[in-house]
Amino acid sequence: LNNGLAGTPPMGWLSWERFLCNVDCDHDPQNCISERLYKDMADRLAHDGFKELGYEYVNIDDCWSDKSRDPNGQLVADPKRFPSGIKALADYVHSKGLKLGIYQDCGSKTCAGYPGSADHFEIDAQTFADWNVDMLKLDGCYADPKDMDNIYPQMTKALNSSGRSIVFSCSWPDYQRAEGMKPNYKLIGENCNLWRNFDDIADSWKSVLSIIDYYAANQDDLIAAAGPGKWNDPDMLIIGNFGLSFHQAKAQMALWAIFAAPLLMSNDLRALEPKFKIILTNKHIIGVNQDPLGLMGRRIYNQQNIEIWTRPVTPTKDSYYSYAVVFFNRRDMGSAVEVNTTMSGIGLNYSEGYDVQDLFRWWRSPVHLNPEDTLSVKVNPSSVVMVKAKISKKKTRNIPYTR
Ligand code: DGJ
Repeated sequence: LNNGLAGTPPMGWLSWERFLCNVDCDHDPQNCISERLYKDMADRLAHDGFKELGYEYVNIDDCWSDKSRDPNGQLVADPKRFPSGIKALADYVHSKGLKLGIYQDCGSKTCAGYPGSADHFEIDAQTFADWNVDMLKLDGCYADPKDMDNIYPQMTKALNSSGRSIVFSCSWPDYQRAEGMKPNYKLIGENCNLWRNFDDIADSWKSVLSIIDYYAANQDDLIAAAGPGKWNDPDMLIIGNFGLSFHQAKAQMALWAIFAAPLLMSNDLRALEPKFKIILTNKHIIGVNQDPLGLMGRRIYNQQNIEIWTRPVTPTKDSYYSYAVVFFNRRDMGSAVEVNTTMSGIGLNYSEGYDVQDLFRWWRSPVHLNPEDTLSVKVNPSSVVMVKAKISKKKTRNIPYTR
């Protein structure tokens, strides 16, 4: 969507996967969907080093509103869980140098049964603008996927005329795919800044693998759809929850960077283990995710449960790109697998060569490799090795790369 927003994939936090529709503030005040939860997360983003790395959105998901609209037809926040209202919450989040996202549904109800936006696009867009909201996720429950090519653009229009810059996140292609339809990505890209294509992520490795498989199987369509202002959204980062090991978490982070995916964490930032925080705050991998060219990567190799993914990134020279490369070992037995390839074998043909750096072990100095040289990495099961091969301006000493 050409609204000047989301020039790189949005980053921040979104409540759904971790906190779902927990509305029981009497018994679980820390974890229920309430203004306290979003303030707590804003505090952590602002004070624990996330904001500086680009994590800026604090996003509300389903179950924030009252069960009915007010007499004027306006949405209102649940008065018990959001006693200060959404505008005050937006003010708080803004005071921390962050942005606030909200959730609605284009059908008659949200998935959890709260009032939907059907027949209320203009008033809802205006309400969100008046509340100083910065992003809207518009879900697709209780709406007919066949009508979505017509429904979603109505909200795009309403947001555009609301007078506020609001990033627009759509679920449109996900609902159409689920119905066996082929999404019209040209139209979707003209109307949304990001969009979900596939199932909701769950807190499991199986779920992460299913998303990676969908992205690989549909990569030609997905790559063509993505670019600055318009991103495929494989769903939230679940790093720091219960379902992923350290190695699996590295794999999610690395591949979401290859996908040019929004990085919206859904975890409890108040209790994040250091090993997971290290992954989430890896500035080299975030740098790949946020590369200004906005070109989505692709799987270029897939044999015996070893995959290689590459993404063209800056700096470029003549018509050559630098690349982020992920070596992904999907085997679930044994120990590290050694993967050897020449640089040209993975499409890296710039004659002066590349400086190759391990992005999870970034403190090691880069090694210069020419197209005919061999890149050799050892990849643990359910894990990745991620490197950046940066076009180098001068030829440097050529040391064999074995790590
Ligand atoms: C379905 C969406 O895909 C999820 O991300 C979440 O927003 C739920 N609906 C909320 O009900």
